[in-house]
Amino acid sequence: MSVPSADALRARKGQAKLVCITAYDVAFARLCDRSGVDLILVGDSLGMVVQGHANTLPVTVDDIVYHTRAVRRGTTRAHLCADLPFMSYQASQDEAVANAGRLIKEGGAESVKLEGGVEMAETVRRLVSIGIPVMGHVGMTPQSVHRLGGFKVQGRQADAAQHILEGAQAIAEAGAYSIVLEGIPASLGAEITRSVSVPTIGIGAGADCDGQILVLNDLLGLDPDWKPKFARRFATLGTDAMGALAQYASEVRDGRFPSSEESFK
Ligand code: KIV
Repeated sequence: MSVPSADALRARKGQAKLVCITAYDVAFARLCDRSGVDLILVGDSLGMVVQGHANTLPVTVDDIVYHTRAVRRGTTRAHLCADLPFMSYQASQDEAVANAGRLIKEGGAESVKLEGGVEMAETVRRLVSIGIPVMGHVGMTPQSVHRLGGFKVQGRQADAAQHILEGAQAIAEAGAYSIVLEGIPASLGAEITRSVSVPTIGIGAGADCDGQILVLNDLLGLDPDWKPKFARRFATLGTDAMGALAQYASEVRDGRFPSSEESFK
């Protein structure tokens, strides 16, 4: 089975839901890839779930390149997309080209993602024109956390909803192969999905999107103390890991680990 290209993913609109997930290292990338997901995103969410920051703003292009290279080594079937982090594409189209080029060339990504609507359409057009496939991202865009006043649902008022809709349309018309819709009412997710020609990938945007994406840590329940409303825990690995570690500690302390079978003759 060959890796789906950006064009192949775009063509699935209306045919099959796109299953997308984030990953940040080779071990989890292998598991995601083997499970048959369509797309793995090296998201700048790594700033929060890997680096421990309060938001995604400190993440650098070097960070994304580093994690994308690791994920690349574990990904053979899924499409690999890498996030352009904060201030790597907003200041100028030339910077966007240079930094997107690094994610493709050094990281091994097959496409890049950037946040923003109408104001980013020309940047998307430029990247696509030189052969770099782009995934858009509108709604609750975490890189704008200070303008939004926190990680809050967007588009509840009619004018805000219209602004997000027009942003998604502009990004689609500029050539993006898909668009993440984050943190918007389900009804707006459905409306945008009906009104753009490319797949929408929802995270907190309702069930009518053309696909879904979750942060891997949320899906696996790696943090027992964190479960956003829009996420579902399909496992409780954080609790399981703490149980395993407690058992390891107790077996080391009482001499049950290692056994003779676990020791060299
Ligand atoms: O950074 C990220 O992981 C993302 C997804 C949640 C869409 O942008």
